[in-house]
Amino acid sequence: MGMSMAYGSGNDEESIATIRRAYELGITHFDTAELYGMGTGANEILLGQAVKGFRDKIVIATKFGFDLPNMGPGKSPLDSRPERIRVVVENSLRYLQTDYIDVLYQHRVDPAVPIEDVAGTVKDLIGAGKVRFSGMSEAGASTLRRAHAVQPVSVLQTEYSLFERDVEREILPAVRELGIGFVPYSPLGRGFLTSTVKPAAEYEESDMRRWDERWQGENYTKNLAAVEQLHQLAASEGLTVAQLALGWLLAQGDDIVPIFGTKTRSRLEENVGAATTSLSAVTLARVKEILPNGSFGARYPADFMPTWT
Ligand SMILES: NC(=O)c1ccc[n+]([C@@H]2O[C@H](COP(=O)([O-])OP(=O)(O)OC[C@H]3O[C@@H](n4cnc5c(N)ncnc54)[C@H](OP(=O)(O)O)[C@@H]3O)[C@@H](O)[C@H]2O)c1
Repeated sequence: MGMSMAYGSGNDEESIATIRRAYELGITHFDTAELYGMGTGANEILLGQAVKGFRDKIVIATKFGFDLPNMGPGKSPLDSRPERIRVVVENSLRYLQTDYIDVLYQHRVDPAVPIEDVAGTVKDLIGAGKVRFSGMSEAGASTLRRAHAVQPVSVLQTEYSLFERDVEREILPAVRELGIGFVPYSPLGRGFLTSTVKPAAEYEESDMRRWDERWQGENYTKNLAAVEQLHQLAASEGLTVAQLALGWLLAQGDDIVPIFGTKTRSRLEENVGAATTSLSAVTLARVKEILPNGSFGARYPADFMPTWT
């Protein structure tokens, strides 16, 4: 996502080199979405180009669910009508230069379309060989169960990190009961759980962290103090904060596959180091003492906050 939107400007050459280096380092799961090109296909085109030489060796996940052609004030940004899903999938296949999508996610639950209709459409696309597995993002346990009854859901993707732990109450128990894998997005708290966080005003104009609540006023000061403690803890284990944050997620279970985002090879290489770290029980407990309830400040403004039903 960050290679095309949300976190300031990108550099396609370095982005492509980063994706290819990821594959060399053993990463085989790549996440994109229609949304990340705002209807232009930009992020899917970038990914398709980068993975051309090894496409059949990796998992490509993409997402539908927004009404990008008709976005505007006073209108729902969501659109999971079956006819729209089919159009988005054809576009994604073309942009990604592939015959099949490994994981097709509904990006956000659309209250205007029964989830059974959405799941039924994905089932048809799987039957047609255009999609291999079904995924959902930010769905609540009840919606997940209804979709799963029509077409088995392979993975649920939702924000989960040292900063955002709400999924631990109902969502993780539900996916585990149903045998669904869990993909935490923004595992580095959109870059706060690293050594390079800076005040909101210092990010580029187009960077969403300028208005993210976790970066504002007292929230920022408190979150920064927690990250400084995490930094000391990480250093005592010979790790960086990013490696500690990813290692903590990996320690939550084998069914958890965090997807971090970075635009550069150097940070990719740093983050991949988390895969070979094993955090002690003492360190895991200390992490929870530092951030007992996650971050200060909500992860989305109220208008954008997903409701898990
Ligand atoms: N389903 C959804 O609704 C949803 C929502 C958000 C994201 N996602 C998916 O999840 C993926 C990851 O989310 P995210 O990008 O928000 O995750 P993230 O990994 O929590 O944060 C990414 C930010 O952290 C920075 N960063 C990464 N590694 C770093 C390091 N070692 N040191 C310092 N800074 C570092 C990146 O900067 P640089 O790029 O400059 O390195 C970037 O600004 C996205 O790419 C997207 O595919 C899904």
